[in-house]
Amino acid sequence: MTATLPSAAVLGARAFAALAGLNRFTDEPGKLTRLYLSPAHRQAAEWTKGAMEVAGLTAFIDAAGSVQGRREGATPGLPAVLIGSHIDTVKDGGRFDGNLGVVAGILAAQALRDAGIVLPFALEVVAFGDEETVRFPTDLSTSHALIGEYRPDWLDGTDADGVKLRDALVKFGGDPAGIAGLARKPGSLKAYLEVHIEQGPVLEASGEAVGIVTAIAAQKRARVRVTGEAGHAGTVPMALRKDALAAAAEMALALEEIARGHDQALGTVGVFRPDPGATNVVPGAVDFTIDFRAPANQTVASMDAAIQTRFGEIAARRGVRLEITPYSQSKAVPMDEGLQEAFATGIARTGSNLSARRLPSGAGHDAMAIAAFCPAAMLFVRCEKGISHSPLENMTELDAGIAIRVLLETLLELARGEG
Ligand code: GLV
Ligand code: MN
Ligand code: MN
Repeated sequence: MTATLPSAAVLGARAFAALAGLNRFTDEPGKLTRLYLSPAHRQAAEWTKGAMEVAGLTAFIDAAGSVQGRREGATPGLPAVLIGSHIDTVKDGGRFDGNLGVVAGILAAQALRDAGIVLPFALEVVAFGDEETVRFPTDLSTSHALIGEYRPDWLDGTDADGVKLRDALVKFGGDPAGIAGLARKPGSLKAYLEVHIEQGPVLEASGEAVGIVTAIAAQKRARVRVTGEAGHAGTVPMALRKDALAAAAEMALALEEIARGHDQALGTVGVFRPDPGATNVVPGAVDFTIDFRAPANQTVASMDAAIQTRFGEIAARRGVRLEITPYSQSKAVPMDEGLQEAFATGIARTGSNLSARRLPSGAGHDAMAIAAFCPAAMLFVRCEKGISHSPLENMTELDAGIAIRVLLETLLELARGEG
């Protein structure tokens, strides 16, 4: 049955060619920046829809901006196995984060079609658009739309330029009123599979091309605003200042200390914007973000409490006002054990030199949202030096091909399970 499927080398070459096509679309020439609902996101979505059609899927760009493709199984209307990931990126991001998983799904669908294999379930591929959550204060909004858990207040969130998500979505060609209609019917998805670059060093260190994700870490994100008093840098005595930036800087360091003090925890201030931001003005306000994570839910809860206390103390001591507005929170999400086993079989059938290492994910993924709706699992691919969210993110062509071959063998294993 599998003799007619392409080799990992061929699949890898196809994947890199497809990624080169997809990654031409960027909002910042010379870098890969593709924020949710930007002009580059629209172009990338159209490219993805075209690639899905070439692979034999019936495709469309949905009301929230995701690209969805489907090919029916042995009989029309069967529940689907959904393969997905995202095509939005962070600012100046890597080529593989999200994009690899989308291309993997499309190339797997194409290989099955070319081999004349008809599955006992429908096959769907989705390219989500709001995984990174770096433009608007949302929480995996496009994957939540698919499972009927889109929060209408996300539409009123604004980006750094004050643009509302609702307006950006309309400009993109989406339809805020159509989002509720994206919710899948219970039972319509059999499984969700996501291939993703590891974004960490574990597989490289152990010499393995792919690994199976056991669980995704808990995380919380918030926007923080500190308001002090703007003043003249040459006249306001140090003792009388209410310098919002100095207070915010102390909070950033406190977050670092809190993360270091918790088991396997991480804390990051990734955005930091002083207002007005001029050399000779004592900063009157600062907007910054906090992102904190840990494998255990109770660790994130304990960090949350410590942040409230420490930030509150710093604000009171410095006489500044503090507003913390959480916008995204996810509990740790275990991956489906049956699908982890299916991936392990897929790995074994791909190559006797491969092992089915299990590893947790510290990064967030659309699989976290979808796991609340149907069994979900992820396959990680080795990442050069563990570097991600950076233009230096890299992997080998062969590893990409091995991952797609494993995905194909896993789909065939799920098909066998139906038989
Ligand atoms: C997504 O890449 C995240 O974990 O921030
Ligand atoms: Mn990602
Ligand atoms: Mn990412």
